[in-house]
Amino acid sequence: MAPDTLSLAGKTALITGSGRENGVGAAIARGFARSGAAVAIHCLSEGSKPRAEKLAANITTEFGTKTIVVHGSVSDYKATREMVSQVLKEFDVDHIDILVNNAADGSSQPLLDATPEHLERSRLPADGRETAPPSIGHGEWVTGGP
Ligand SMILES: NC(=O)c1ccc[n+]([C@@H]2O[C@H](COP(=O)([O-])OP(=O)(O)OC[C@H]3O[C@@H](n4cnc5c(N)ncnc54)[C@H](OP(=O)(O)O)[C@@H]3O)[C@@H](O)[C@H]2O)c1
Repeated sequence: MAPDTLSLAGKTALITGSGRENGVGAAIARGFARSGAAVAIHCLSEGSKPRAEKLAANITTEFGTKTIVVHGSVSDYKATREMVSQVLKEFDVDHIDILVNNAADGSSQPLLDATPEHLERSRLPADGRETAPPSIGHGEWVTGGP
């Protein structure tokens, strides 16, 4: 199916780590919004929210879809639950249709120089999958990071 013919109208998408306008997560969010989904933009910290909010506003202006911004660490189970609760409340839905576990450490370095700490931060998308709460509907889409 060509991307332009895929309708996600009425669907709700949460893309973790999508708050930086030049990142892969932001591009994924834009793609879902272009197909009509309501999109939850996510970043790690409260301090990153202004950047994420600007991105969300631009997406709404460009595609006319609803957007919200949530934040919190995906490696923190409680924060993840709160994040999902906020998405459900603000979009007034009972489940999330699409979850993209994109959030992770964006820094890169030669593999042979990588420390155990860096590798641990890089596997955050897997953590997000483990902490994906039951609000994600059965049979819905769950993908790993890019
Ligand atoms: N961009 C590329 O071309 C590319 C290519 C291949 C692989 N990747 C990898 O794919 C992943 C995502 O890429 P991206 O371009 O979307 O990243 P990005 O634009 O650099 O942004 C990373 C996002 O992850 C969030 N984040 C980091 N640690 C987090 C945590 N513990 N809990 C919740 N959110 C967290 C950051 O939040 P804050 O903004 O609040 O810090 C940010 O929103 C990264 O691991 C990156 O290395 C990227």
